[in-house]
Amino acid sequence: MENEIEQIALRAARAAGRIHLKRLSRITVNRKSNSIDLVTEADRESEAAIIEVIHRAFPTHAILAEESGASAHQSDHRWIIDPLDGTTNFAHGYPQFCVSIAYERRGRVEFGVVFDSLRKECFIAQRGHGARLNGKPIRVSTMPSLGASLLSTGFPYDRRERRRFYLCFWEELMTRVQGVRRTGSAALDLVYVAAGRTDGFWEFGLKAWDIAAGALIVNEARGRVTNMDGSDLDLSAANIVASNSRIHDELIEALASARPEAERRHAEMMREQGPAQGPAPAPMAGSGAGSVVAGGKYR
Ligand code: IPD
Ligand code: CA
Ligand code: CA
Repeated sequence: MENEIEQIALRAARAAGRIHLKRLSRITVNRKSNSIDLVTEADRESEAAIIEVIHRAFPTHAILAEESGASAHQSDHRWIIDPLDGTTNFAHGYPQFCVSIAYERRGRVEFGVVFDSLRKECFIAQRGHGARLNGKPIRVSTMPSLGASLLSTGFPYDRRERRRFYLCFWEELMTRVQGVRRTGSAALDLVYVAAGRTDGFWEFGLKAWDIAAGALIVNEARGRVTNMDGSDLDLSAANIVASNSRIHDELIEALASARPEAERRHAEMMREQGPAQGPAPAPMAGSGAGSVVAGGKYR
């Protein structure tokens, strides 16, 4: 069964990757929760292809997928799928996106694959068997201190409404480390920690499909992944810190130290906006959920 899981996961990831490459030259973009939360044909098509591969092999397994949601039935076996992580990058032709697929048995992730179809980089991990990039074992960095580290982070789709909150953490870390990158793909951010390309990563507001595969890959590469308060990772908790393990405590401490000011600034922003305006800025005309963007940059 273990081998079959790997085989099917890789087959599904490659099928998704082929669709990403095919769709890259003609992208149709729709809005989801707000004007900056996008979905493309490539997201939907690659998700359908992944689910078809999995269902053909394991018709009774449950699915949790970003675009189509959770299957109605329960099973000890569940696949957690982000068919295209980095949709905003993809929609702009910015080369940083991937597919992320995790297999979970009785609530524990056992296998994960993150595939960057453009660079042909396939990161995988099976619990207890280490992590690999294109077949070769990978390890997290040996960076001993936060001060010399390269980190990455991301901002969730409520970033306009909560900008002052998120920026406080960015401000704190940018003054403490060598560099902070915002790449636009949380799954790649995680596997880059696993491969030692970065030393740590944090983000608020992520979903299980963004992190399920990447978190296992970091752990199997001897890194550490926790909730933002340092407790054991809960895939539904949304706030994640990953690192090479050595800088983990320092990173958690730095994030915790920024929190009171982040909350203060967010509360201040809410007061300034006043109750009449509400917390969210009004969407731009014609950019509400569901509207189609065509032409121009989106080709
Ligand atoms: C997003 C990316 C991004 C992160 C967002 C995610 P999507 O996923 O991972 O890096 O900052 O929070 O939602 O929408 O491209 O699948
Ligand atoms: Ca995602
Ligand atoms: Ca996605």
